[in-house]
Amino acid sequence: MSAGRRSPPSASAAAGESGVLAASRYGHFAPGGREYVVTDPRLPRPWINLIANPRVGLAVSQTGSGFSWIDNSQLAVLVRWQQDLADDRSGRFLYARDRDTGEVWSLAPAPCWPAYDRYACRHGIGYTTIETERAGLRARWTLFVDAEETVELWGLRLEETAGRRRRLSLVPYLEWNCGVAPAPRREFQKLFLETSWEPAAAAITAGSHMWDVPSARWGHWNTSFPYACAFAAAQPAAAGEGDKAAFLGRGGDWRRPAALAGEDPWPALFGRHHDPVAALRCDVELGAGEVFDGGFVLATAADRASALALARRFAEPAAIDAALGAATAAWHERLATHRVTTPEPTLDLLANDWLRYQAISSRLWGRAGYYQQSGAFGFRDQLQDAQVWLTIDPVRCRAQAALHAAHQFVDGSVVHWWHPLSEQGHVTRMSDDLLWLAFVVAAYVKETGELGILDDPAPYLDDPAPGPLVDHVERAFARVFRRTSPRGLPLIGAGDWNDGLSALGLEERGESVWLGQFLAGLLADWSVIHGRRGDAARAGELHERRTALVAAINEHAWDGAWYRRATRDDGSWIGAGENREGRVYLNAQTWAILHDVAPPPRARACLAAVRAHLLAPAGALLLAPAYARPDPTIGYITRYAPGLRENGGVYTHAATWAIAAAAKLGDADLVGRLLSAINPALQDPDRYWAEPYVLPGNVDGPASPYAGRAGWTWYTGSAAWLPRVLAEWVLGVRPTWDGLRFDPCLPPAWRRAAMRRPWRGAELDVSIERLDVLAPGAVAVEVDGRPRRDGLLGAVRPGTRVEVRVRCGPAQPGAAAPSAAPRERATSE
Ligand code: GLC
Repeated sequence: MSAGRRSPPSASAAAGESGVLAASRYGHFAPGGREYVVTDPRLPRPWINLIANPRVGLAVSQTGSGFSWIDNSQLAVLVRWQQDLADDRSGRFLYARDRDTGEVWSLAPAPCWPAYDRYACRHGIGYTTIETERAGLRARWTLFVDAEETVELWGLRLEETAGRRRRLSLVPYLEWNCGVAPAPRREFQKLFLETSWEPAAAAITAGSHMWDVPSARWGHWNTSFPYACAFAAAQPAAAGEGDKAAFLGRGGDWRRPAALAGEDPWPALFGRHHDPVAALRCDVELGAGEVFDGGFVLATAADRASALALARRFAEPAAIDAALGAATAAWHERLATHRVTTPEPTLDLLANDWLRYQAISSRLWGRAGYYQQSGAFGFRDQLQDAQVWLTIDPVRCRAQAALHAAHQFVDGSVVHWWHPLSEQGHVTRMSDDLLWLAFVVAAYVKETGELGILDDPAPYLDDPAPGPLVDHVERAFARVFRRTSPRGLPLIGAGDWNDGLSALGLEERGESVWLGQFLAGLLADWSVIHGRRGDAARAGELHERRTALVAAINEHAWDGAWYRRATRDDGSWIGAGENREGRVYLNAQTWAILHDVAPPPRARACLAAVRAHLLAPAGALLLAPAYARPDPTIGYITRYAPGLRENGGVYTHAATWAIAAAAKLGDADLVGRLLSAINPALQDPDRYWAEPYVLPGNVDGPASPYAGRAGWTWYTGSAAWLPRVLAEWVLGVRPTWDGLRFDPCLPPAWRRAAMRRPWRGAELDVSIERLDVLAPGAVAVEVDGRPRRDGLLGAVRPGTRVEVRVRCGPAQPGAAAPSAAPRERATSE
C-alpha cells in the first residue's frame, strides 16, 4: 500500500478550458486530440475504448463496463460480459465502501450510478481513465494493457478532498468466463471452472477444465481452456470472494451487494463448485488530503503458477505506472511516422491517431468491439485492415499477407474467416475473399518497391508444403477465372465484398459486376508485377485478361447512366434501372472509376449517379432505394430493416471509396461534402448517438426513421481505409508503379495541407497549396526546390529528409487524374 501526501495529478485534469475540439453536451476532445473526455456518462449509447496489444485486450465504456480476452476475443474471453447497449452494466466493477459510514458506491458509473460531484472518462490512445469524485474522495481509475505482456492493468489513485480521515474498502469485482463467449448457458459453463484464493499473493486465480471448441487431438469438447488467469491487487487484500451468489446475496442489488453490507467475513467460496467470480477487498486508510496509489492486475499465462508470477511482477503501483508510460509511448511512436495536417483539425486527429489506432487495436489485434466480439480473422477484412501498416510498419502488413495465404487451399479458394487458436474455418462460395491477397500484396510492392514479398513462403490448408506468395495469388486468379460466366463476367457465388448478396449466385451462374471491376484493377497491377519479375508472357496474359474483362463489363453491365451491380442465377439484374428497390449500387460506380474500367464519359456519369441517387447527409449510401421486404433471391441484405447497414445505409467502409472516386475525378466539392459527412466528430451526438472519435460501421440512411444514427462502432473496415483515402486521394500523395505521385483534390474550403510520411527509407515533408492562378487541374511539384515535370518521386536516398512542395490549380471536375503510365502498365494505378 502506498499512501502519502502528494500533489494530486494535474496532467489532464483541467482539460477543457482551451484548445478543446468537438465540444458537445457529452464531452470534447482534450487539446491535442489524443484524449476524448466524456463529461456526462448518460450517453445515448456506450462510448467505448478498445485497448489491445497483439495478444490481450479489453473493452471499456464510459460506465467502466466491459470485457477482457486473450488471443481470441470470442473463444478465449476471460471476463464475462453481456452485450446490452441500452443497459451497459456488466463485466467488471470497482466499488468503494466507507467503513465508517457504511456508504457503498462505484468508482465508475456502473453499477451504482451514484451522483458524482465530478465525473470524466478520458478515452485515450491505449488507455482509459475514469475520474470520479464523491463524498470527499477523488478517484482516478486507469485501465490499459501492457505493451507486450499478457497483462491487463488497472492503476488507481485516490485522493481525500474533504479534509478528514477515511477508512475505506476498495472492492473490484469481475465474473470469470475463461472460454467461449457469449456463454448463454452459464449453468453449464460454470461446471468446469475452478478458482483459488491466494491471500499471500492478494490474488484469485481461475481456469476452466473444459473449452467448448473442437480439439484436433482429443475430439469434441474434451480439452481444457489453455490458459490460467490471476487477478491480483497491488496492495494487500483482506479478503477474497469467488462465488457470485455469496457476493451479491439473495435478492441482491448490484448497487449494494451483500458482501459490502457490513464488515462480516466473506465466506470465501473457491474451488470447483461455485458460480465463479473474483472480488477482492483491500482496506485503505487515508488522512486528510492524502493520496493513495494502488491498482489491480489481470494476468494470463499457460498455467496457474505462471499467471500468479506474472501478476505479482506487475502488482506494484510503480510497475503499473511504468507500464502505462511504456504502453502509451509505444502507441505514440507507432503513430508518429505518418501524419497529415489539414484545415479540419478533427479530421487530423482522426486520421493521424484515432482511426489508425482503431484499425490496429480493434480490428487487427483485438478483433472486437462492443457491437461484435469476433476473434476471427476475416480473409478479406484483416487484409484490408493491414493496409494501415503500409506507411508505418510495412513488415507487419507483409506478415499479415503470409498469415492469410496460409489459409488458402491448393485450388485457390480460401476460408471466409478462421479462428486463431482453434483454427476453425468457414468454407464458403464467396467469390472475392481470395483476391484481397492480390490486392494487399500489390499495395505493399507499390509502397515499398520490394518484390521480395512474392517469394515469402506460405503453406496451403490442404498441403503443408509451402509455396511462394506469388503462387498463392496466381491460384486465386486461376480460381476466379474458372468461375467466370460465358460472357466473361466473374461469378458472384455466395456473395462478394457485400456479404449480404448471399443468394444471387448459389447455382454458380449469377455474376458480379463489382467483382469484375475489382479484378480488372488487380490484373493491371499484377501485369506490372510480372513484368518486373521478368515474366513478360504472364504480364501479357494478365493484360489481355484485363482488356477482355473491361470490355465485357462495358458491354453487358452499363445501364445507360450507371453500372449495374450483379445478376441472379436466372440472369436478371440488380442495381439496374428496371429495379424498383436496389436500383443503384455504390460500389459498382466507385470501383469502375478507381480501377479505370469506365471510359471518361461513363466515369463522369457514375459520379453523377452517386450524386443523384446515393448522396445522403450522412455520406454515400451503399444502395438506393433500400429493400423494404426480404427477397430470398437476393440474400440477407434485403432482410435488414430498410435504411440499416448495407440495406440502404451509409456503410462507411464503402463510403470511403466514394471519397477516393470523387477525388480521382477531381470533384472537390463532393470530396468535401463526403469527408464532412463521414467525420464522426462533426455530428450532432443526439442524432448520431455513437462515439465521436472512431468510425462506425454504418449510419442509418433515409429509409430509417433514425436517418443519421450511427452504430457498429470500432469493428469496421473503414478505420484503415479512411486515412489511406485521405492521404492518397484527397491529399493525393499516392504510390504508383511510377513512383510516388502528387495529385491532390482538396475540398473547396481548403487552401493548404501538409503531410509527413516515410518513402522508401527517406522522410518526406510534403506541403500542398491550392493556387487559383494555376490552371484548373494543374499540379506543379518541386522536390528539394527543383521542379519535377512528371510530378513524381521515384528513388530517394534512404536516411535523408526530402521536401516536396505541391501546388495545384483549382479542381477540374470530371477530369480523371491523368497519370504518366509506364510503358508496361496496363491501365490502373
Ligand atoms: C462486413 C463484413 C465484411 C463485408 C462487409 C460488407 O463488414 O465483415 O467482410 O465486406 O460486411 O458486406
